[in-house]
Amino acid sequence: MRPVKKCFIKLKKKLNDGVFVEYKNLSLKEINSTAIDKYDFVSLSNVPSYLSLEEQRDLLKNLDSILNSGAVVIVRYYLNVGAPLLDGFSEVSTLHQKLIDEEKVQMYQIKIYKKN
Ligand SMILES: C[S@@+](CC[C@H](N)C(=O)[O-])C[C@H]1O[C@@H](n2cnc3c(N)ncnc32)[C@H](O)[C@@H]1O
Repeated sequence: MRPVKKCFIKLKKKLNDGVFVEYKNLSLKEINSTAIDKYDFVSLSNVPSYLSLEEQRDLLKNLDSILNSGAVVIVRYYLNVGAPLLDGFSEVSTLHQKLIDEEKVQMYQIKIYKKN
């Protein structure tokens, strides 16, 4: 997605204001067996396309235990676009369609899911 300067400046400011960004070096398959914190936002940029269709189907189920309610998961798919089961989640991509349409490459599909 094209970086929006206004958003970038707002996010940069928030990083000094108690927002904690953490990078985890683990496989999505390990998430359930790894006791880790809960998150409000997960970005998977061009990652689920590398999973099997079954793993893509279970993507949100596997992330569920590490998400707070209302958490947002944003996925950027490449050619292999799966369909995660939405149990306990809603797809909210259309709410952000204008921004998604601004993505310049137009090779990727961007889907946004929200935990209920
Ligand atoms: C094409 S790269 C995308 C890198 C970066 N996120 C981006 O958008 O430029 C694909 C990434 O998927 C990650 N990946 C593949 N299978 C994964 C899995 N099961 N769990 C976590 N990450 C995985 C790889 O480690 C790799 O970093």
